[in-house]
Amino acid sequence: MRKKVVAGNWKMNMDYTSGITLFSEIINMVNDEVRGDQEVIVCSPFIHLHGLSQYTKDTGKVSIGAQNCHQEASGAYTGEISAGMIKSVGASYVILGHSERRQYFGETNELLAKKADAAITNGLNPIFCVGETLEERNSEKHFEVIKQQLNEGIFHLPANDFSKVIIAYEPVWAIGTGVTASKEQAQEIHAFIRTQIAEKYDTSVAENTSILYGGSCNPKNASELFAQKDIDGGLIGGASLKSRDFTDIIKAFNN
Ligand code: 13P
Repeated sequence: MRKKVVAGNWKMNMDYTSGITLFSEIINMVNDEVRGDQEVIVCSPFIHLHGLSQYTKDTGKVSIGAQNCHQEASGAYTGEISAGMIKSVGASYVILGHSERRQYFGETNELLAKKADAAITNGLNPIFCVGETLEERNSEKHFEVIKQQLNEGIFHLPANDFSKVIIAYEPVWAIGTGVTASKEQAQEIHAFIRTQIAEKYDTSVAENTSILYGGSCNPKNASELFAQKDIDGGLIGGASLKSRDFTDIIKAFNN
């Protein structure tokens, strides 16, 4: 059966020391809380990954990931980081297609498909983000937009590679706004995503894919969101920067 996952996305926050402190607090708090069918992931800025990996060695209960990777293996791409480099410092995940990357860095579905290939080739599990803007939702294009993001960005993977992917539904209008999608809105899209996966691959692949909700998820709303049939956890921004809030979201599975 699919895993229940809570993943933190620190975005461009935390200097090195604050990040290590936050992570060690998280490790101490969650160690006893994480059950076998659950996974906790922290996606930090690149600079923290090696340091964080020193803490995960002993516990094995929290995994680490990056927030982006370059699509090429190596070469003259000043300032970029490859999937192989991320893997080499002990990370096992990479967020791809976050709306902030799409919006501010012009990442297209076509580019994201190449990044997904690079991640898989290097043994990183992609956390692939999809989601509509407010304008797209208001003009009732949300299903179409999400379908296209999946088809062009990640559905080119063969089934055995797709089985390594986590999907995150993050409506752009809910990210960092304090406005959360209602449990009904989120469940509707999650069920739609699962149907798309079943149509592209098969029901067993669809049933085994973890689909996370992201967008102003916090300790107060996490339990009702996670209780939905097709919501398998959360991708957490702001609330992942406070160890207490992040841990309380993880505990929401047990409520
Ligand atoms: P917030 O939880 O801050 O809304 O961010 C969500 C997000 O973008 C996680 O990737």
